[in-house]
Amino acid sequence: MLLSLLALPLAAAAATPTLPAFQHRDSPFAALFKRDGAVPDPNAPDFASHYPANWKTPDPSGLPKAWLDKLHSIQLPANNPVANKTSSSGTAYDGINNQGNNPDVCSFTFGCIAPTDYFEAPNSTWLLNFDDGPTEASPRLYDFLRSEQIEKNATHFMIGSNIQSYPKTMQEAFAQGGHIAVHTWAHPMMTTLSNEQVVGELGWTMQIISDLTGGRIPAFWRPPYGDVDNRVRAIAKGVFGMETVVWNKDTNDWKIGTGGTTVDSVKDVMRGFITGPKGPGIVPLEHELNNDTVQVFLDSYQLMKDNGWAVSTAPDAYGLLWYQNAKGNDGPVVAAMSVGEVQTAMGTNASWANPTSAAPSSAAPSVNATSAGGSSASEKTPNTQQGNKNSSAARLGVSAALILPALALVL
Ligand SMILES: *[C@@H]1O[C@H](CO)[C@@H](O)[C@H](O)[C@H]1NC(C)=O
Ligand SMILES: *[C@@H]1O[C@H](CO)[C@@H](O)[C@H](O)[C@H]1NC(C)=O
Ligand SMILES: *[C@@H]1O[C@H](CO)[C@@H](O)[C@H](O)[C@H]1NC(C)=O
Ligand SMILES: *[C@@H]1O[C@H](CO)[C@@H](O)[C@H](O)[C@H]1NC(C)=O
Ligand SMILES: *[C@@H]1O[C@H](CO)[C@@H](O)[C@H](O)[C@H]1NC(C)=O
Ligand SMILES: *[C@@H]1O[C@H](CO)[C@@H](O)[C@H](O)[C@H]1NC(C)=O
Ligand SMILES: *[C@@H]1O[C@H](CO)[C@@H](O)[C@H](O)[C@H]1NC(C)=O
Ligand SMILES: [Zn+2]
Repeated sequence: MLLSLLALPLAAAAATPTLPAFQHRDSPFAALFKRDGAVPDPNAPDFASHYPANWKTPDPSGLPKAWLDKLHSIQLPANNPVANKTSSSGTAYDGINNQGNNPDVCSFTFGCIAPTDYFEAPNSTWLLNFDDGPTEASPRLYDFLRSEQIEKNATHFMIGSNIQSYPKTMQEAFAQGGHIAVHTWAHPMMTTLSNEQVVGELGWTMQIISDLTGGRIPAFWRPPYGDVDNRVRAIAKGVFGMETVVWNKDTNDWKIGTGGTTVDSVKDVMRGFITGPKGPGIVPLEHELNNDTVQVFLDSYQLMKDNGWAVSTAPDAYGLLWYQNAKGNDGPVVAAMSVGEVQTAMGTNASWANPTSAAPSSAAPSVNATSAGGSSASEKTPNTQQGNKNSSAARLGVSAALILPALALVL
């Protein structure tokens, strides 16, 4: 179903998109995000209408055909059904032995870390990253990053709906050199969504980022609440070529204002991380969600410097490309690459990816901005158990002997 409600005005608007010179759209995945006409203008009053409804999981019936074709061409893991959300905000898998700890499922909500997950950093590296932006609190963070000359050292896992509301703020992060990555469209628990809903959550967030960054295709995503399993990983990698980044330290900054959690108590948590062991390096869960979460980082960074942490984006920490079709926000772009070259450049070949099906599709996305579902913006700490401790860092020769802190699920 190639629906065209909003593609029509796009196609009619201009013969060719006006794009910056660094634009390059020839990666195998970039074809999924090409538009027939002009790229939506963030200054135009109708900007939001070119995307699905705000804070709702995009309706599968309105998805671009190319995305669904790609979904149907990849092999998804067997024995990994859609999860049910439990009353305690966890997940449950009908008829699956060991639930999310089943190796076929490997849910991070259950503490299982897949070999392909990025969850820790090289020793002495603090993987500087912020979830849930862009928000009204973001500019204060961006000013601070610039003042400390670390604006090019941060990964921003952004929510598509927030980009739709604050496109210029996202472009500010991009323009100053921040690494832009995906944190879904409406921030749901992804393992509870159908395959098609997962495609919509990821695809539309990639689309809006691509549209606003001169065609860059995100290469990294962070699952909301850390809720990811092998089915969702397979879709993120197999349909969209994205790496999954979780975390090894939750600052709990998202809880500020609830249950006695304050800016000061989270700063204490940060102090513990910053002054603790340097190996393995830290992938924190931090947010540009509001002024308080931003404040925690502003007040903690001096201590980070004093303790000799290097701060790094996700791709720089792992020696990967920033985007699937560009090494960074400016400078030379990566020439057209074959699927194998992309996979090699990204450092991994997902076993579920079907290389023969990854040829560029010619179909351009079109938009039906209808939807169903919804969620809120906060994170939960996985109820960590002795799951698969295989580390992405192990591929880089870094210690894999990390066990996540066994914190209880809260809320
Ligand atoms: C998508 O838009 C088309 C054209 O307006 C409409 O016929 C169709 O019902 C829409 N689909 C959904 C799921 O809203
Ligand atoms: C879990 O969800 C599936 C559909 O996704 C449904 O068929 C099943 O009844 C649900 N199980 C429970 C225990 O709610
Ligand atoms: C990283 O730190 C861990 C823990 O201190 C240590 O065992 C390991 O040898 C270090 N790795 C490197 C590459 O320095
Ligand atoms: C953000 O927090 C700082 C420090 O507490 C405060 O000075 C500032 O007024 C706050 N800004 C907003 C917009 O609330
Ligand atoms: C920021 O990143 C650059 C490039 O990777 C690196 O050279 C620099 O040391 C980083 N800054 C800090 C404070 O870690
Ligand atoms: C990934 O697979 C492609 C073939 O699809 C191959 O050419 C390439 O060497 C592989 N890369 C790695 C890192 O295994
Ligand atoms: C962990 O990694 C090793 C070596 O790469 C592999 O043999 C093993 O199957 C992995 N374990 C799991 C549970 O994925
Ligand atoms: Zn989040």
